[in-house]
Amino acid sequence: PFKTLAKLALVGSVMATSFLATAEPVEIKFSHVVAENTPKGQAALKFKELVEQRLPGEYKVSVFPNSQLFGDNNELAALLLNDVQFVAPSLSKFERYTKKLQLFDLPFLFKDMDAVERFQQSEEGQKLLNSMKRKGIVGIGYLHNGMKQFSANEPLLLPKDASGKKFRVMASDVLAAQFESLNAMAVKKPFSEVFTLLQTRAIDGQENTWSNTYSKKFYEVQSYITESNHGVLDYMVVTSDTFWKSLPADKRKVIKACLDEAIAYGNKMAADKNAEDRQAIIDSKESKVVELTPEQRQAWVDAMKPVWKKFEDQIGKETIAAAESANQ
Ligand code: LMR
Repeated sequence: PFKTLAKLALVGSVMATSFLATAEPVEIKFSHVVAENTPKGQAALKFKELVEQRLPGEYKVSVFPNSQLFGDNNELAALLLNDVQFVAPSLSKFERYTKKLQLFDLPFLFKDMDAVERFQQSEEGQKLLNSMKRKGIVGIGYLHNGMKQFSANEPLLLPKDASGKKFRVMASDVLAAQFESLNAMAVKKPFSEVFTLLQTRAIDGQENTWSNTYSKKFYEVQSYITESNHGVLDYMVVTSDTFWKSLPADKRKVIKACLDEAIAYGNKMAADKNAEDRQAIIDSKESKVVELTPEQRQAWVDAMKPVWKKFEDQIGKETIAAAESANQ
């Protein structure tokens, strides 16, 4: 019997060795909707690089940009089905899972990206990363894009210039209300459809960051961009509770560190990328960048700020106050 046991042990270890040798790395999918030459596109690629460097042969990361794998309409559902392990939708796109994040869509809430950063890193801001826990969504961290600008085929200098026009918005009731406060129409459409909607004039305008407007060529089909900086477009990098818990603790720790570093990398480049793309749009001469006088800007504030009232119960007055205090 000893001989048999030894034989079995030998066979077992040979099998284990050959299994290890041929085992494929576990694939982690990261899907997003923007181009690669954007803060989010670059952060996703940085994550891939770091994971494959630190867990070689064990994990590999496949990044799917440009709504290639999943788009706005299905990426969060796919995440919950574990068909994709990481996504980073804009904070405007979580409405079905929490009303709390609508905070970030309130027009003229943050005076600049430094204020956004201060709030996100504050206790209140960090608390919001857990706002979808009960729905099975785990917030890993905030990733910056930048402030939004309006674009249209006519110059938008005052709120009345937007009146009667049709604008694409992300799937957010706050953003829809924002355009309604200007007597404009808002249509919720996925990011992947925006260029065609603009090109065919199915819509008159949209709001986005410089990096999205440049990388997706919206400026080629919009004659004017108003430098309004009226709201923020940032992301939350999220995973599912199911996937997160399925990872061995030591691997999860490494993967979390890779995510944190990739997010920091994206955040660091976001401001420069937007400034660079703004300049590229100006240089292209395809679209004219319109700056607002302080009086004109104030007119937009006066028209759009009443939107806050409509959503303060859903978002929470204290949360809004905490965000406002980040401006100081
Ligand atoms: C949009 O839909 O306009 C943006 O959220 C796209 C993105 O992910 O930056």
